[in-house]
Amino acid sequence: VVKMVKICCIGAGYVGGPTMAVIALKCPSIEVAVVDISVPRINAWNSDQLPIYEPGLEEVVKQCRGKNLFFSTDVEKHVREANIVFVSVNTPTKTQGLGAGKAADLTYWESAARMIADVSKSDKIVVEKSTVPVKTAEAIEKILMHNSRGINFQILSNPEFLAEGTAINDLFKPDRVLIGGRETPEGMKAIKALKDVYAHWVPEDRILCTNLWSAEVSKLAANAFLAQRISSVNAMSALCEATGADVSQVSHAIGFDSRIGPKFLNASVGFGGSCFQKDILNLVYICECNGLPEVANYWKQVIKVNDYQKTRFVNRVVSSMFNTVSGKKIAILGFAFKKDTGDTRETPAIDVCKGLMGDKARLSIYDPQVPEEHIQRDLQMNKFDWDHPIHLQPTSPSTINQVIVASDAYEATKDSHGVCILTEWDEFKNLDYQKIYNNMQKPAFVFDGRNILDVEKLRKIGFIVYSIGKPLDKWLKDMPAVA
Ligand code: NAD
Ligand code: UDX
Repeated sequence: VVKMVKICCIGAGYVGGPTMAVIALKCPSIEVAVVDISVPRINAWNSDQLPIYEPGLEEVVKQCRGKNLFFSTDVEKHVREANIVFVSVNTPTKTQGLGAGKAADLTYWESAARMIADVSKSDKIVVEKSTVPVKTAEAIEKILMHNSRGINFQILSNPEFLAEGTAINDLFKPDRVLIGGRETPEGMKAIKALKDVYAHWVPEDRILCTNLWSAEVSKLAANAFLAQRISSVNAMSALCEATGADVSQVSHAIGFDSRIGPKFLNASVGFGGSCFQKDILNLVYICECNGLPEVANYWKQVIKVNDYQKTRFVNRVVSSMFNTVSGKKIAILGFAFKKDTGDTRETPAIDVCKGLMGDKARLSIYDPQVPEEHIQRDLQMNKFDWDHPIHLQPTSPSTINQVIVASDAYEATKDSHGVCILTEWDEFKNLDYQKIYNNMQKPAFVFDGRNILDVEKLRKIGFIVYSIGKPLDKWLKDMPAVA
């Protein structure tokens, strides 16, 4: 009798939840348990209100939950029973001590590893799913080996490439699955075991096997390259504004070069999300620690340009409106870091809102998926604190009196002087902008940080329009913004 493979995943977050749900769906013969120390998170996974919003996720969860997919806080039991343990805990940027503001905080990772060593009674494959610094597998190996009491652990690196908002599709049809392991017979056997899981639905030629360090570096490299593309096009957007070129036309033209390719070339108010900035900071820190300051400085620029882009946007808003937004109502449409997610980690909206609040604006914010308390919390929190659970405990409901959260775009924009589009939600494309214009103070401004609106149409209605990297209105040319 072939024993059923049991998988346990530590960390029921944006990665652990969807990834395991898809494994369960695609591998009915495998039992999958997703465990977490957070009771509310597990309760939510077991309810009708999943803890994260991701198109298609609910259907997948509903199909397998209670059959071969379980969500539990009994971490130790499920780890003990599993053959394969994924570790998908958060690895945020350190806020204190050595490497603060740069290095990855591996506290959660290490405590998960020690727990695995403590409770295990049989051999296990331990899979790094979290994004970690290169050589983390070695550290984890040491922790497990020194505490193992004769049990055999094989460590694999299996970084996740899903993007939020398209997670289910990315998991169903991944460009590739990457598995790194030791080049020993036991290591190869472990790689094969994990490969067999993915082979249930991923074509074999898309499952890449490498050594451990290549897999760890590839994850940091992929995110660095992707973020660099956005900073590159955003840097061009500033040049376009200065010269009368249109960044969308430039992206289109360069994207036709098959070596460059058309994807991921949308100029924006800046990239956000829990990964890009954190992983590049981590990469920079690792390069510095390895005596490679030139390499570190090269990648640091990607973040500097991203910060510049957010500052530039705020300066445009303020300078266009006669150099002051003090006491003026500004509508913020979109707070999530991209469309189709409620996630606000590192969203550019936080920096833009804080910048405008610094100039004493009154903000009226609307996002279709982000709850009011998250918006208020994010605008009160310090940089990098967001991913450390200790800071996410419900605080006193103190709200910032400069900020109100509206329940739709029309309410948010009513009586405002300006509208900022900060997330590219589809519903913002089809709003009745004539109605919005009629209910605004004049002159009425639109600042499109995502280039989703028809600039000419808005100008015909009477708006003064700024759209990233597009030819400027005469008005804006007369009011130059210096970042
Ligand atoms: P998350 O914060 O949504 O989820 C992490 C979960 O781990 C939390 O629910 C937390 O309670 C739990 N946890 C922490 N320590 C634990 C412990 N000792 N035992 C049990 N549970 C514990 O994070 P996420 O977005 O899912 O990211 C997880 C990892 O995956 C990170 O390293 C991240 O860089 C990487 N990653 C994220 C994405 C993404 O799009 N979010 C994509 C690829 C990779
Ligand atoms: C990213 C990577 O894409 C994914 O492979 C990795 O596993 C995790 O990090 P994610 O952060 O979820 O995924 O979303 P992504 O689509 O990459 O967008 C990141 C940010 O870049 C968003 O703020 C988005 O709005 C911005 N972006 C993206 C642009 O500004 N322009 C673009 O052309 C593309």
